[in-house]
Amino acid sequence: MERYYSLEVLEQQLSELRNTGQSIGFVPTMGSLHAGHMTLIERLLEISDKVVCSIFVNPSQFNEASDLENYPRTEDNDAEMLARTGCDIVFLPEVAKMYPENHVARTIDYQGLDHVMEGSSRPGHFDGVVEVVARLFDIVAPNFACFGEKDFQQLAIVRELVAQHDYPIEIVPCSIVREPHGLAMSSRNERLSPEQRTQAAVLHATLSEIKSLVSVMNPDELAVWGRNQINQLDFCHLEYLEVAESKTLQPIYRWHECEEARAFVAARFGEIRLIDNMEIYRAESTF
Ligand code: PAJ
Repeated sequence: MERYYSLEVLEQQLSELRNTGQSIGFVPTMGSLHAGHMTLIERLLEISDKVVCSIFVNPSQFNEASDLENYPRTEDNDAEMLARTGCDIVFLPEVAKMYPENHVARTIDYQGLDHVMEGSSRPGHFDGVVEVVARLFDIVAPNFACFGEKDFQQLAIVRELVAQHDYPIEIVPCSIVREPHGLAMSSRNERLSPEQRTQAAVLHATLSEIKSLVSVMNPDELAVWGRNQINQLDFCHLEYLEVAESKTLQPIYRWHECEEARAFVAARFGEIRLIDNMEIYRAESTF
């Protein structure tokens, strides 16, 4: 596997690949890689000739200086994992190269996707995500880019970015990869104590219970039920729990009003903020 720090060298290598007709798959990450990230790489190895992974802890998407500072950085371990999985190129740009002085951030019309959940909890976060993903798309110019459903709202916003800026890139979604007891894999899990890591399984358990109750409660009642479940716990602090339509991410009140719905949750375990989501309803399903 090649490791590039220089944007110019990467662009040169990628243009050579493109000139020989090879397709490029791209997985943007912030490093501290785990098995969840590896499934994104594996998915693209199936459909593209070469797979590029970027590792860049993007300052513009963090709203808390301490979160940015404490974000785990494990470059050598990450590179080893990527090489083992079969990734072809890892790109580790510097902040100054990503955001030179004359850089103008791309923006989108969020269509309301930024008013809910992560958007309202983390002001400016998605502006930073759009800025960095657009910059990386401009540099890498991939044929495919893979994003995890773990960050479902981010995935929806990236789809808008691609549509609104006419990027000729196919977005490939990837299901959430979980630890054996259900906790969604995340770089932030490393910062939980062993006890908190066990306790954090409650997020997935609650989402699963919500799914099992779809036939007996309306969406808004279920959201209240889920909030009550988590608010009873003394080891975590609930930020939001919503039941929303899967495309617009707006809250719903009747199941028959939508084709597909998901439940979304964010909670803090001590300092560590975790998010999760699950598809809970599909029209015509047998719930
Ligand atoms: P990061 O949190 O490193 O995640 C990189 C990609 O891995 C995202 O698409 C995320 O949804 C996916 N991912 C993380 N954990 C996953 C899991 N358990 N199962 C499936 N997919 C998972 O998301 C970001 O970085 C950044 O916002 C980024 C897009 C790189 C822009 O800076």
